[in-house]
Amino acid sequence: GRKSGPRLIIAGAPASGKGTQCELIRARYGVVHLSTGDMLRAAVSAGTDVGRRAKDYMDSGRLVPDDVIIGIVKERLDSPDCAEAGWLLDGFPRTLAQAEALAEVGISADCFIFLNVPDEVLVERVVGRRTDPVTGKIYHMTFSPPDDEEILKRLEQRSDDTEEKVKVRLGQFHANVEAVRGSYADIAVEVDGTMRPEEVSTMIMKSIDAVLT
Ligand code: AP5
Repeated sequence: GRKSGPRLIIAGAPASGKGTQCELIRARYGVVHLSTGDMLRAAVSAGTDVGRRAKDYMDSGRLVPDDVIIGIVKERLDSPDCAEAGWLLDGFPRTLAQAEALAEVGISADCFIFLNVPDEVLVERVVGRRTDPVTGKIYHMTFSPPDDEEILKRLEQRSDDTEEKVKVRLGQFHANVEAVRGSYADIAVEVDGTMRPEEVSTMIMKSIDAVLT
């Protein structure tokens, strides 16, 4: 059998469903979920050096500079829990330089999952998204609202989830996506991300199971 857990990368446009799928993938494979967006937001609210350097970029929808994010990810992947349980990279690598930085230190993955969702669908997903600050669970006011009144009242909206900022985020995504996909062409799987979350998840898990056996 395998000595260590699966090493997975999930990529896709802003609001393509990466976070939603990562919750399901982690529950099934027991991997460590590493979202660079979550890590950066935590750094911003904690007021760390990384957070101070990242804040203005994130607020405007631009990518943070490669040197701000690469070091944190490499350090995190190096930790014992990742080595043992395996990992799921969400939102990284997002540029060619980030992909090259992983390759340079010998970090490779078993599967690169690309969620394909057209831009028109993404804007609606962004503006309706809400997060539960207590559980971290992701909701959508139209597609998946909570049925609990208490949860509904405490939901929060991300400051970069406006129609104006998602345009900037989409621009950054389109400028980099082909270079990133090209770096993983040999292990890439493309999944239609417009289906219902459970259907998307079924497709993803079939692909992961196929490479792990
Ligand atoms: P990050 O947090 O990574 O944001 P993102 O890539 O824009 O992705 P999102 O979190 O917006 O969306 P998602 O794909 O996880 O979708 P979700 O599941 O929530 O990055 C934020 C910022 O941090 C960047 O702009 C940048 O500044 C910085 N950053 C992060 N990583 C970086 C890096 N590597 N380099 C440089 N800078 C970096 O779903 C969205 C909504 O749709 C939800 O409401 C959900 O309920 C709904 N939904 C999900 N799936 C479906 C479905 N199948 N059908 C209908 N609705 C669905």
